[in-house]
Amino acid sequence: MKTIRLFFVAAWMALCGTLSSQATHSFTVADGTFQLDGKPFTVRAAELHYPRIPRPYWEHRIRMCKALGMNTICIYVFWNVHEQREGQFDFTGQNDVAHFCRLAQKHGMWVIVRPGPYVCAEWEMGGLPWWLLKKPNIGLRQLDPYFMERVREFEKRVGQQLAPLTIERGGPIIMVQVENEYGSFGTNRPYVSQIRDIIRQEGFEHVTLFQCDWATNFENNALPDLLWTMNFGTGSDVDEQFRRLGELRPTTPKMCSEYWSGWFDKWGAQHETRPADDMVAGIDQMLRQGISFSLYMTHGGTSFGHWAGANSPGYAPDVTSYDYDAPINEHGQPTHKFWLLRETLQRHTAQKLPDVPASPMPVIDIPEFHLTEYAPLEAGIARTVNSSPLRTMEDLDMGWGTIIYRTTLPAIETPSTLTVNQCHDYGRVFVDSVQVGTIDRRLGQSAVTLPPCKQGAQLTIMVEGMGRINFGQAIADRKGITHQVTITTADDADIPLTLWAISLIPDDYECAINALSKTDKTTATLGAAGYYRGYFDLDSVGDTFLCTEHFGKGQVYVNGHPLGRFWSIGPQQTLYLPGCWLQKGRNEVIVLDVNGTDQPTLFGQRFPELNRLILATGNEHRTDPASRPSLPAPASQGVITANSGWQQATLPQAVTGRYLAVELTTDDVHGSALAEIVAYNAKSERLPCENWATRYVSSEDIVGGNHTADKAFDQQESTHWSGAQNNLPQLLVIDMGTRQTVGAVGLLLPNAHTASYRLFIFD
Ligand code: GLA
Repeated sequence: MKTIRLFFVAAWMALCGTLSSQATHSFTVADGTFQLDGKPFTVRAAELHYPRIPRPYWEHRIRMCKALGMNTICIYVFWNVHEQREGQFDFTGQNDVAHFCRLAQKHGMWVIVRPGPYVCAEWEMGGLPWWLLKKPNIGLRQLDPYFMERVREFEKRVGQQLAPLTIERGGPIIMVQVENEYGSFGTNRPYVSQIRDIIRQEGFEHVTLFQCDWATNFENNALPDLLWTMNFGTGSDVDEQFRRLGELRPTTPKMCSEYWSGWFDKWGAQHETRPADDMVAGIDQMLRQGISFSLYMTHGGTSFGHWAGANSPGYAPDVTSYDYDAPINEHGQPTHKFWLLRETLQRHTAQKLPDVPASPMPVIDIPEFHLTEYAPLEAGIARTVNSSPLRTMEDLDMGWGTIIYRTTLPAIETPSTLTVNQCHDYGRVFVDSVQVGTIDRRLGQSAVTLPPCKQGAQLTIMVEGMGRINFGQAIADRKGITHQVTITTADDADIPLTLWAISLIPDDYECAINALSKTDKTTATLGAAGYYRGYFDLDSVGDTFLCTEHFGKGQVYVNGHPLGRFWSIGPQQTLYLPGCWLQKGRNEVIVLDVNGTDQPTLFGQRFPELNRLILATGNEHRTDPASRPSLPAPASQGVITANSGWQQATLPQAVTGRYLAVELTTDDVHGSALAEIVAYNAKSERLPCENWATRYVSSEDIVGGNHTADKAFDQQESTHWSGAQNNLPQLLVIDMGTRQTVGAVGLLLPNAHTASYRLFIFD
C-alpha cells in the first residue's frame, strides 16, 4: 500500500514538473500588431497538412519549415479523415493531429489551427464527410439542423484534442480560424456566427479567433468580434489587398492568412507554377511592412488514396500530387524557391537560421517489374442491389469506388442516343460486354450512341467516382448516376430505363485483396478493367516515384497503403511512393485499373513527372475559327482601368440568351486578360455558374502560365484567362448551359491591366 502511495506521489511530482517546465505564454492583439508575451510579433507561418505527409516524415517537414525561417505551422483539421463513418472518430496514428502540434512545439514552432468544418484545400468535399450526403437535400455550410449537429459533434472532438494545446494552457496554438473563406461561397452571418460560437464553446474561448477571406468579399460575412485576415497569392498587389481592411480597421494587425506559393493541378491540364522571384518579393514586402503571413503551401505533399478533391465550376478533379510548386517539394526536398525564400527570411531574422535537416530517406529507382496476377473488376463487387430507380453511391452507403449499373435493353432498330444524367464521374458503357462509349464528366459529356441491338441485350454502365467537389456551391456532389438514364431513338421517342441491378466496388485495399484471392475467377465483362498485382524486391528502402504510364486510370496500393489516383491523360504520370511504406525484401503492389492495360508493368524513378499531358483531343483549347459564333450588337461596352477592382456593367435592358461573350481589347504590355466574369439577373441576383463551359475562345495561353479560358469563370480571383497579345480583340464565348436573362455583368481584370470590353448575350 505504502509503495503504491509513494508511486502516486512521485508520478504527481513528475507531472507537476512537466507542466511547470511548459511555461505559458500569451498571444494577443494590441497597438496594431500581434504581441507574443507583450512584444510585437510577426507571424511567419508555413502551411502543412498532416494527412498529406506520412506520419514518419512529420518531424522532418516541420524542421524544414523552421530551417526556411518560419516561426509557425498552420494546419487545417480535416473532418472527413477523422470521422469516416458517422459517429466513429479517429485521432490516432496518421490522424493524431495533437501529436503533430506537439511535434511543432518541440521544435519551437507556434501553431495556427483551422478546424473548418469546411476547409476547401483541394481535399475531397472540402473536408466534409461524404456520409452527410446520405441525407437528401442536406444544407451544407448552412444552418441545417443535422449539419450543425454533426459540426458540433466534430468540433467537440477537435476541442478535446487541441484545446489543451492552446497558448494560454502552455501549448503552441496561437490562433484558431472560424470557417474558411465563406465569402466565396455565400453570405450568411448567422451561420458563420454559430460556427464561431461552437468553436468558442468547445474549448477555444481564450485563444485569438479569426476569419479569412478575399479583399473583395470579406465584408460580406465579417463578424465584429473576430480578427479579419486576407488571402491572396503570388503576384498580388499587397497594398491593394489590405486597402479596404485598413479603411475599416486602421489599427488591426495585417495578416495574409493564405499567401499562395503556387497552385494546384487538375487532370487534363498543364502543371501550374508561379515564379519564385514574385513569390519572394511579396513576402519581402510584407515583412518590410510588418505584415504577418502564412505561406500556402510551404510543403504541399500528396493527396493520398481518394482524398484529392475537385474544383468547380464545371467538374475539374485535382491530381494526386499536391506539390503546389511550393518551396519544399512533394517529397520534402528544398527547391530553388526554398533557397531564395530562406535567404530573404534570414535577412528579416536576428538569429541565424538552423541548418537544413537531412532527408529521412534517400531517393531510389525500382527496376521495371511485371504485375502478373489479375482479377477482373467484377471480382471486387462487394454487393449488388436491385432497384427500379437509379441509386447513387451515397444512397447505397458507399463513400468511394466504382458502381456498376446493369439493365436489359428493349429492341433498338436504329442507332440511338443513350443519355446518362448525370454521370459522376467517369463512365464506360457496354452492350453485352462490348464497349460502346465513355462518358467523362470533366468534359461535360453525358451521352453515347447505342448501336442497334436485340431485345434483352445487356446494358452495363460502369461509373468510377473521383474526388468530390471542394469549392463553390456544387459541394453536395453525389457519386454514380445521380438522376436518370434515357434512350432517345432516331424518331425522337424517349425511353427511360428502369429495373437496375446495381453493384458496388469500394476502392479499398481489402476489397482488392479479396478480389485477387477468389479462386472462382468471375468472367470479365468490362474489358481489361480489374486488379493487377505484382511484387518487387528491395535491398534498402527509399522514396521513389512509381511511373504509371502503362496503365489507364485508377488507384494504386503498395503494401496496403493507398498511393492515390492515376490517369494516363496526365499531367501527373508518376505517384509518390514514400520510402517509409517500403520494406527490405518483397513489396506488394496492386493497381486497380478501371480502363485496363495490356502492358501491366511499373517501375520507380528518382524524380516526379508532374507535367506530361497525353490527351486524345485538346479539351481546353477551343480556338477553332469554325466554331466562332457570329455576334449580335453588343449588350454593353466600356473601359476598365488598371487596379480598379470589380466593375459592374449594368445593361441598358436585360437580355436573354444561352451564350455570354466578352470581347477584350488592350494595347498595354500585359496583353488581354480577364480574372473573373460573373452575371446577374434583372433583380441583381448572381446567376449560378456551376455549369458554365467555354464554347469558343480566340486564344488562350496554355504554354506560359496555364491561363486557359475557364480561369475567367473559375470563381478564383487569383487566376486569369489570358489571350495572345497579337490577336486582338480577344473573344471568349461562355455557354451558360441554359438560357438566362442577364441584367448586369461583373468583370475583374488582373491588377495592372487596362482594357476596353464589349459584352454580348445571344442564342
Ligand atoms: C483557398 C482555400 C484553400 C485552397 C486555396 C487554393 O484559399 O482557402 O483551402 O483551396 O484556395 O489552393
